[in-house]
Amino acid sequence: MESPLNDIQGKVLVAATGKGGAGKTTSVACLAAYWQAAGKSVALLDLDANQTLTRWHGKGDILSHMTLKSELDEHAVIPTIDKLAAEHDITLVDCAGFNNQTMIFAVGCADLVLIPVMTDEANVFEAGRMCKIVESTAYLTKRDIDVRTLLCRVKRAIVATHARSELQALGAKPLKGQLNDRVLFQEATFYGSAPTALEPSSAAARDVESLAREVEAILWDASHGAVSVQPGLDPR
Ligand SMILES: Nc1ncnc2c1ncn2[C@@H]1O[C@H](COP(=O)(O)OP(=O)(O)OP(=O)(O)O)[C@@H](O)[C@H]1O
Ligand SMILES: [Mg+2]
Repeated sequence: MESPLNDIQGKVLVAATGKGGAGKTTSVACLAAYWQAAGKSVALLDLDANQTLTRWHGKGDILSHMTLKSELDEHAVIPTIDKLAAEHDITLVDCAGFNNQTMIFAVGCADLVLIPVMTDEANVFEAGRMCKIVESTAYLTKRDIDVRTLLCRVKRAIVATHARSELQALGAKPLKGQLNDRVLFQEATFYGSAPTALEPSSAAARDVESLAREVEAILWDASHGAVSVQPGLDPR
């Protein structure tokens, strides 16, 4: 069987964790909007039966300007990612909030798996399990699959620092950037938008920009982590 992915394809970022509500769809929408505004060709793939991303895409704002596919047949996931990646600079894949075979197939196609984590024990524990799934899938597919954890909905800097050190101890590679708990992330969902488009000078848009630049360094630069990222501010 021909390899589903080859060198000429664009990058594939998969947002996944077995923990529901951690921030997968928000992260995907915000990063997609940032890169769309920056001039990249962006595709979205919704693998969640709840179809949250698909609904946001249908609202006529910035997400609507990107290609979106929704795929609920697990056996169609790999060819769908393959096609989107061949036609776009970046394909962002939003998984459902529980472990399933569709998610494994998507992880097997990923250049980077982004694991959103809220700052509590259960989220950190689940992120550690998700890292092991990525590791096993990389072994299975004999591909390099990068993985990073992303702190989401951060309310207190001190709790984020603690969560980050626990993630480091688990080998779960936390990003320096984080999405702080800000109302604009929720407001944007009603419009199918994102902070970058809705309020470009907002603190939420700055969170997204720092995150996107850090992820760009992983996806597109040889020197991983070489960009400087502003530390997350305590959002109080
Ligand atoms: N940084 C943030 N600040 C404020 N609210 C946020 C932030 N990130 C996410 N939210 C809110 O938290 C909720 C869950 O976020 P989201 O839908 O992105 O998580 P998810 O991991 O995709 O969930 P699911 O597992 O159900 O698919 C949503 O109401 C969203 O608006
Ligand atoms: Mg979701």
